[in-house]
This record gives sequence, C-alpha cells and structure tokens, in this order.
Amino acid sequence: MSLRVVTLPGTGLTASALGFGCASLGSRIGRADGLRALAEAHDGGVTWFDVAPPYGAGEAEAILGEFLAGRRDGVRLCTKVGLAGPERSGLMRLAYRLGRPLAARFAGLRRRFRAAAATRYRPIALDAAGIAASLDQSLARLRTDHVDVFALHAPSPADTVRDDVVRALEDLLAAGKARAVCVAGDLNACRAGAGADLPYRVLQLADDPQTEPLAALREVATRPIATVTHSVFGFDGALSRLVARLESDPPARRRLQAAGYDAAPREAAASLLIDRAFASNPDGVVLASMFAAPHRRLNLARAALPPNPAAVQIARDLLRPAGA
Ligand SMILES: NC(=O)c1ccc[n+]([C@@H]2O[C@H](COP(=O)([O-])OP(=O)(O)OC[C@H]3O[C@@H](n4cnc5c(N)ncnc54)[C@H](OP(=O)(O)O)[C@@H]3O)[C@@H](O)[C@H]2O)c1
Repeated sequence: MSLRVVTLPGTGLTASALGFGCASLGSRIGRADGLRALAEAHDGGVTWFDVAPPYGAGEAEAILGEFLAGRRDGVRLCTKVGLAGPERSGLMRLAYRLGRPLAARFAGLRRRFRAAAATRYRPIALDAAGIAASLDQSLARLRTDHVDVFALHAPSPADTVRDDVVRALEDLLAAGKARAVCVAGDLNACRAGAGADLPYRVLQLADDPQTEPLAALREVATRPIATVTHSVFGFDGALSRLVARLESDPPARRRLQAAGYDAAPREAAASLLIDRAFASNPDGVVLASMFAAPHRRLNLARAALPPNPAAVQIARDLLRPAGA
C-alpha cells in the first residue's frame, strides 16, 4: 500500500503524510544505520525529512545531505535556525563520544544524558546576517541549493514577529533558498506566526493529545496554514503511559480492541498514538523518529491508511490521568 500524500495548505507543497525526524541522526544513531533507515523509509514512500543544525550532535545535516545526493528532486526538506549544539569542553566532548553508544542502548543512561546541561541545545540570537549565514551553511551540509521549508527553531513569540527577522526570511524566499518559511516552536510562538501579514506558511509544533494545540491554532489562523506535528510517542512519555494503562486496566484494553487495535499492548498503543496524530493533522505532515526497523514498519503501515478520527477521543480518554 502506498503512503497517504498531502498537499500542504497555503504552500503548494506535496509530501508524504509521514515525515522522518532526524534529531538523533549522528548521535544516538550512527551514520551507517542512519543512512540505511533513511533509505528504507524513502523506499517505503517517505518524502519529508526534518533536520536542524544542532541535530545529531551537529552531524545530522551532513549525513542527510549524503543520503539526498541523487534523491533531492522527490524530497521535501526542512531545516531550521535558532538553536545551536551544547557548549562542551574538550573533556566533555570525549565523555559524550564514549558514553553515546552506551546511552543508545540503555534508556536510563539516555535520560541522564538528556538531563545534563551538556546535551541541551542553546538558543542563538537571531539577526539578519546570522539567519542568512546559517541557511547557507545548512545548504552546504545538505548539498542542495534550497530547502522546501526553513524554520525558526524554538523562537520567542516576539522574535517571530520582529521586523528584521521577517525581512531576513522574506529575502531568503525571494532568493529562492527556501520555498516556504516556518515557525517550529511552542504554541505561543506558532500562534504569533499565524498572524495575517506574516510570511510563515508552515507551523511546526508538538501535538499534545490532551491539550490539542492544533485546535487552538485553527481558532486564530485567518489564512490557510500548513501544520507539521511531532512528539507522537515521546510527548510526556505518552507511549509508556499508555502501555502501562493497557497492562493494568482490562476495560481500557477491551475498549482499544473493540476499536480495532487488537495487538499486544505496545503495538496497540503505538498504533493508536500515530493514528491519533494523523487524524488530528489530516492535511499536514506528522514527524516521527523511526530509526528502528519495527518502528518504521508500523509507522509506514499506519501512514498508508485513511485518518481515523475516532483515535483522537480514544487517546485523549486513555491518556487522562486516573481519577481526572
Ligand atoms: N522544536 C522542534 O522543531 C522539534 C522538537 C522536537 C522534535 N522535532 C522533530 O520531530 C522529530 C521526531 O521527534 P519526536 O520528539 O517527535 O520523537 P518521536 O517521533 O515521538 O520518537 C520518540 C521515540 O519513539 C520511538 N518510536 C518511533 N516510532 C515508534 C513506534 N511505532 N512504536 C514505538 N516507538 C516508536 C522512536 O524510536 P527510534 O527512532 O529508535 O525508531 C524514538 O525513540 C525529531 O527528530 C525532529 O525532527 C522538532
């Protein structure tokens, strides 16, 4: 079955409804495994790839660029500006390099890595020259002359609407280096970016099953705007919470089975969460990290189905804290 294809409102961009998120490409996932995963996803119909300069400990864009050589025409590419990799001393870099392969295998160690300031992205001040230089450096690493989407990465609402930032982005659109510009941030920044006179045609944000930020965005948007969502499995530990609920609550499990999610708890929970993400954003792109082959297989299979609106309510109910 082929993947569902969407035409993003207000952009004319067409892509697979499922996009590949490359935040771990080059860090948790090594180059060879990463290239294999990207190729398998692309062969399976994925045509949207999401990256940023600090992803993969600064390696993701270059690895994605290597993958794109010879494949660029059929692919939609989004990169960003606004966050840099963590500042590390020489000793810290060495500890990171040695610890990274272990962290990839052990979730506890991974959590400790994430909690450490040495692994956190740093915001960089946005100015016209810096924005243009960042995109030029990204294009060089990605081995292309344009990106389909260029995003402000985790901007404040004030930066999103700042005149000099907006003008810098419009210049890049006019130069053909980006086909569309985007706010990739929290709901407040995306709300600011949805303003009538702004150039943002795409908004990228975490889609929380409980608070449903896309509904809030639709209320303020006065023009067609495309949405790219992420954090399907990771949001607030959604997947592990749902699995725990299914394992401890037989009526919840039966409800899911009756709705057609008749697999072991982990697979049923993952299927429900990605179905919910597609149904919540039916004409946009849903990003997932899917370097593991079983994850990729499941996500690709679900992306071939028509959106299932019932998944939204079921996920909301089953993720609600007990007693709420
Ligand atoms: N501000 C921003 O712009 C922003 C913020 C966050 C994320 N993003 C983008 O969104 C992408 C996705 O990130 P995310 O945080 O949303 O992560 P995610 O897709 O929710 O993935 C989180 C974890 O879930 C696993 N997973 C994927 N499919 C699964 C399945 N079917 N069953 C069980 N587990 C599954 C992944 O494993 P494997 O990868 O090992 O398969 C990963 O370890 C990022 O790579 C990045 O491109 C953007």
